[in-house]
Amino acid sequence: MSTASMTLFHNPLSPYVRKVMVLLHETGQQDRVALQASVLTPVSPDAALILDNPLGKIPALRLADGSVIHDSRVILEYLDHQHVGNPLIPREDSARWRRLTLASLADGIMDAAVLIRYEVALRAPEKHWDEWLDGQRDKICRALALLEKDAIAELTSHFDVAAISVACALGYLDLRHTDLEWRKLTPQLAGWYFEVSQRPSMLATMPKI
Ligand code: BEZ
Repeated sequence: MSTASMTLFHNPLSPYVRKVMVLLHETGQQDRVALQASVLTPVSPDAALILDNPLGKIPALRLADGSVIHDSRVILEYLDHQHVGNPLIPREDSARWRRLTLASLADGIMDAAVLIRYEVALRAPEKHWDEWLDGQRDKICRALALLEKDAIAELTSHFDVAAISVACALGYLDLRHTDLEWRKLTPQLAGWYFEVSQRPSMLATMPKI
């Protein structure tokens, strides 16, 4: 019998959804959440989802009382308060702001990578805005360079909200942007990612096309 009391609007290719799934695995909560498949793009929203999240974005999580929360940052915070293990989002000030800032950097990599994906996959080639695409790629490269220079030790120290977010961002680059060859730019980050990719939570949520 299912013990799920919550429902997650889910797409296995979304890096934002993957963050939630990895946290569920890492905190032993995966059986508490049923998955509702959500197929969407910015120009073809999921009809069921927009009834609960007018922005039409995933992930969104229906709680046991029927209310719906979003986005991924809010869902991670909520779920991190629902288990008894060590928090994956630090509660104390100094660690909290640093780890959330690293997570925000990773979310920014995802944002740029998903926007590039939509522009390239959904718009006719003659309408592609090359300078804008370059601007998004530059954002990704700058963020990766900062992680390589400043954050390897911090990422290695805990597999928490920061590390989960960076790992899911890199997983999405591997899924949709192999042309970026990010490992050549950031060899230490590549070594860290190789290690964390072997975690059961990462293996169980690996996106496949
Ligand atoms: C993708 O297919 O790349 C994708 C799917 C859902 C959300 C974001 C990206």
